[in-house]
Amino acid sequence: MARLEELTAEIGSARIEVRPTRAEIDLDAIVHNAKEIRQWVGAGVGLCAVVKADAYGHGAVPVVHALFHHGSVDAVAVSLVEEGIELRRAGVRGPILVMGGVYTGAHREILASDLTPVISDLGDVHALAAAASSFGVRAKVHLKVDTGMARLGVREENLPAFLAELPRVPQVEIVGACTHLASADAEDNLATEDQLARFERMLLALRSEGIFPLVVHAANTAATFRFRAAHYSAVRPGLALYGGGLPPSSVTLRPAMRLVSAIAQLRDVREGDAVSYGALWRAKGRARLATLPIGYADGYPRRLTGNSEVLVLGRRCPVVGAICMDMTVVDVTHLGDQVHVGDQVVLLGSQGNERVTAEELASRAGLIEYEITCGVSKRVPRVAVVRSQAFGGSGEAS
Ligand SMILES: Cc1ncc(COP(=O)(O)O)c(C=O)c1O
Repeated sequence: MARLEELTAEIGSARIEVRPTRAEIDLDAIVHNAKEIRQWVGAGVGLCAVVKADAYGHGAVPVVHALFHHGSVDAVAVSLVEEGIELRRAGVRGPILVMGGVYTGAHREILASDLTPVISDLGDVHALAAAASSFGVRAKVHLKVDTGMARLGVREENLPAFLAELPRVPQVEIVGACTHLASADAEDNLATEDQLARFERMLLALRSEGIFPLVVHAANTAATFRFRAAHYSAVRPGLALYGGGLPPSSVTLRPAMRLVSAIAQLRDVREGDAVSYGALWRAKGRARLATLPIGYADGYPRRLTGNSEVLVLGRRCPVVGAICMDMTVVDVTHLGDQVHVGDQVVLLGSQGNERVTAEELASRAGLIEYEITCGVSKRVPRVAVVRSQAFGGSGEAS
């Protein structure tokens, strides 16, 4: 019999995944989506994949490895310096743009990790120049201009003063210029057209000061699909890579995340029996209920209480009672005796001919699509489902 210390050591070195709850990540889908985007924008336009927030919850390291491995992207973009460093530590060698603009003292780390910061602050320009001098290199940066998002970026009225300062810091080289569009998904195109017109004026101002950025980019997913004028030399989509957004009919995107669990317990209840906190749901007659080991602490939004469905045996089953931190109860009465403990449950994604989309969950919960995959918490293991031969895989890898 194993001694307790041996067992403890074994557990300490193993990945412990007792629960059947996991997020399956289809890396082939992400590579496919990148290729579809490339085809849509055409050969002359580069693709910078937005992989911030752990690739929108899909797991940035495997996603970025897959994208670069297949030559599907020219660069990736994160929000935080930390996210960029994590990718470098995982062996990513391709260009990494850091878009978040919060560099508080991390300028040496940025250069040491060969990250490309997006700057819009003269303080950052000077700090990068000092870090670059100490390393004996030039810092290559992208300049962000504010054309209407009013979040980051040099405003049009401040651009002349900003540009006037640049010749004093030759250690910093502007290799890219960008902006961010606030309303590219809006029905009315006017706000985006205004932003693009302002961007054009600001690019002109750069050129008149002798600054000719190699890369110019503005388009998120919505602008990539809806505004060819916003493509410039590269597009910068996130959502579409993971299968979201509203692509034109010639573009086919595949959702990349499936959130699955399994039935932990089944119970039969009688008319009037209540379920979960606050007794928000009562059985209207005899009912069979399934308890799922997944809750709001896993990122299944509590706001779906009383307004969601999961898939069991390829059929929709309503969520009943309050969604708990670790558990959710669903009504499987209509499945009769076909349903068993251990049966797979799909909370996001497809099973048989049925599909629950992130868009559906978001609209039921009063959230946006992005929040569904970003919200899947870190205690849910991401299991990369690798199908293509290029990865040498045929099943699961994590
Ligand atoms: C600066 C910037 N660019 C691009 C994106 C990608 O946007 P989307 O996921 O809508 O394509 C984001 C995401 O919020 C962003 O903040």
